[in-house]
Amino acid sequence: MIALGIEGTAWSLSVGVVNENDVIALLNDPYQPKEGGIHPREASQHHSERMAPLLSRLFDKVERDSIDVIAFSQGPGMGPCLRVVATAARLLSVKLKKPLVGVNHCLAHVEVGRWKTRAKRPVVLYVSGGNSQVIARRGNRYRVFGETLDIGIGNALDKLARYMGLKHPGGPKIEKLAENGKKYHPLPYVVKGMDFSFSGMVTAAQKLYDSGVSPEDVAYSFQETAFAILTEVTERALAYLGLNEVLLVGGVAANRRLQEMLRVMCDDRGARFYTPPKELAGDNGAMIAYTGLLMYKHGYVTPVEKSYVRPDFRIEDVEVRWD
Ligand code: ATP
Ligand code: FE2
Repeated sequence: MIALGIEGTAWSLSVGVVNENDVIALLNDPYQPKEGGIHPREASQHHSERMAPLLSRLFDKVERDSIDVIAFSQGPGMGPCLRVVATAARLLSVKLKKPLVGVNHCLAHVEVGRWKTRAKRPVVLYVSGGNSQVIARRGNRYRVFGETLDIGIGNALDKLARYMGLKHPGGPKIEKLAENGKKYHPLPYVVKGMDFSFSGMVTAAQKLYDSGVSPEDVAYSFQETAFAILTEVTERALAYLGLNEVLLVGGVAANRRLQEMLRVMCDDRGARFYTPPKELAGDNGAMIAYTGLLMYKHGYVTPVEKSYVRPDFRIEDVEVRWD
């Protein structure tokens, strides 16, 4: 069986085709703001201009008739962007006469991670621009055991980077700077139960920068503090749930310092650490295609009248019918 997936919940526009075993094609055309952060309307404008050319490039690589199901990211995300994606998916579904499956974006991050690593029943740390959650399967749902109370870790990194004059996306630039950091400056470490918060830490880091601390030391202090929070909550979820696998997904999964901290924690506990290849860890069309395929095989179809966008779609809302 072959599925086509469209992702475009925020800045990334990506289309992918997969079968049960592998990614057959994956094409990206991300929106990059000229300055500042992401403007939902500009991003959706970008998606609607680039969608058709991107899909026709995809159909140069993959036979249209070979596709069995059309999957699209239904939410969570920015309303205007989601509407472009849903419209394109509906059109394709009508044109190719193939069923439509609306996919939860967070679930797609988790399932593509399980697909492309050996993780079976992991505690998932999902860290991206808009999201930061600790997730695990309980029965036929994924549950969020801890999450950010304000902004996602990726947005926090991007915000701090922008303040220090660096362009979007800031995460990779902060990572580079942090490698040359020497002195740790304490920052607010906010964990409440299993939830956490980053916005106070961003403000405090901006103040450090204003007071003349080097960008390298600011970046280093920020990463050490924020990633310690994420590692602590992930470890507590492992202990509480009696699990022994950690799966790191989302755009921030590319960060080597975060990977290292989680790996050390896992080694200490005799747990295993997994993360998928970078191109499948961040937002991508293949994860939507794969999850759509999985859902379709388990009886899910989204009728057109139910294909409305769901900006606040939660992973708990989806019944998981597969192993
Ligand atoms: P979502 O819709 O799930 O919130 P997203 O739109 O933020 O996803 P992703 O590709 O999952 O998209 O994540 C992008 C984020 O990842 C950006 O905030 C970016 O700065 C961050 N990022 C990318 N590479 C790194 C890195 N090496 N270190 C830290 N952060 C990174
Ligand atoms: Fe994402």
